[in-house]
Amino acid sequence: MTDHVTLTHAGKSYRLPLVIGSQGELAIFANTGSCKSAITFLDGEKGILRYRGIPVEQLAERSTFKETAYLLINGELPTQKALTRFSVLLNDHSLVHEDMKIFYQSFPRSSHPMGILSAMVNALRSFYPELQRLEEEIDITVTRLLSKVRTMAAMSYKISRGHTVVYPRPDLTYCANFLNMMFDSPVRPYEIDADVVKALNVFLILHADHEQNCSTAAVRVVGSARVNLYAAISAGIAALWGPLHGGANQAVIETLDAIARHGNLRELVARARDRSDPFRLPGFGHRIYRTYDPRARIMKRMAHVLLEKLAISDPLLDVARELEEIALKDDYFIDHHLYPNVDFYSGIVLRAIGIPTNMFTVMFAIGRLPGWIAQWKESMEDPEWRLCRPRQLYTGPQERPYIPIEERS
Ligand code: SDX
Repeated sequence: MTDHVTLTHAGKSYRLPLVIGSQGELAIFANTGSCKSAITFLDGEKGILRYRGIPVEQLAERSTFKETAYLLINGELPTQKALTRFSVLLNDHSLVHEDMKIFYQSFPRSSHPMGILSAMVNALRSFYPELQRLEEEIDITVTRLLSKVRTMAAMSYKISRGHTVVYPRPDLTYCANFLNMMFDSPVRPYEIDADVVKALNVFLILHADHEQNCSTAAVRVVGSARVNLYAAISAGIAALWGPLHGGANQAVIETLDAIARHGNLRELVARARDRSDPFRLPGFGHRIYRTYDPRARIMKRMAHVLLEKLAISDPLLDVARELEEIALKDDYFIDHHLYPNVDFYSGIVLRAIGIPTNMFTVMFAIGRLPGWIAQWKESMEDPEWRLCRPRQLYTGPQERPYIPIEERS
């Protein structure tokens, strides 16, 4: 049963739903903040996104993913000395224990890379036991994760295709190293293109954090039980895999591809409008943004620039633009504040880079990793942070006696 209460504060009144449980207990449901955080600021009405106060547009244009990761985790942009030390640590921890290769070979070839990544990240604790000093444990574990996630993702790609694994190189930057591990081959050396490296940096920066989204909340909840960081991050990867969350970037490309092949754009828009149809148009809508996702704006521009520079013409970009144009004029999308989100154009960029579709969400996870780590670290350092144990509103039966089976109808 739902009633309402009115809360008045500083001259403003708020009407909140009051729900009464079957035992008569009351609960007021509202957008309750799950935690305090100084990491990322979002304004869903104005389409604002800032990491540690710096607008994401400025970071995308002027920073690198490595520097943005440092900013999110440490709270400040690094000095040149700090960045050099960070680069050395990332290089020193970029290899994966050789015994982990056996795990990759044991997964069926058809395994989804997100399932492999979640399992392999969790397995890292077995290969890298806890260090004694907490400070060193956090510092080294954070760097190990940031560095090894690239190597692990590239390894799963190479092994799934039966290709030789390519090792990280000390002379390459964070993103160039990943691209080289993914695409270099003994018979066809990979040519590193500065435009592609820039596009990957921007892609990862745009995904680096997004306050208390589903997967970040999962990292905080699991981390609150004081498990090791690898286990908490593995939970975040599992949550991100979902098609309503990070899995949407793969779903977008599959939908655009289906439209390109079957020409059923209007039919899909009609299905999206139909409340009796569970279909949701991937890449549209957001829990927080009620306007254009600022990341989608940057991603859309980057898709155009990258395809032009690489002289690629991707028919799915034309389909995406047509779908966006129709949806943004549709009253259902307007009434429900449904705009493109970060996933709508990101797949076009990843295709241009050469990333296979089933690894799109892995790319999202590599981008989101510093955000997860920063949020986990902030919760561990918060003296008020306790075991996450949400309450519920009980709506079940009132007390009743046990009935022996012979008396049950
Ligand atoms: C990410 O939280 C984050 O910050 C996430 C993220 C991050 O960086 O971590 O930004 C990354 O996950 C982006 C979202 C990617 N997911 C998709 O693109 C999947 C398609 N989108 C929808 O499933 C939906 O928009 C959600 C899940 C993203 C948000 O949904 P909400 O806020 O829970 O909204 P809802 O599902 O309750 O829908 C509200 C209304 C409903 O209509 P009514 O029942 O009120 O009439 O809007 C409609 C929905 O039917 N709606 C859609 C729609 N999204 C919402 N209808 C059709 N197509 C859609 N895409």
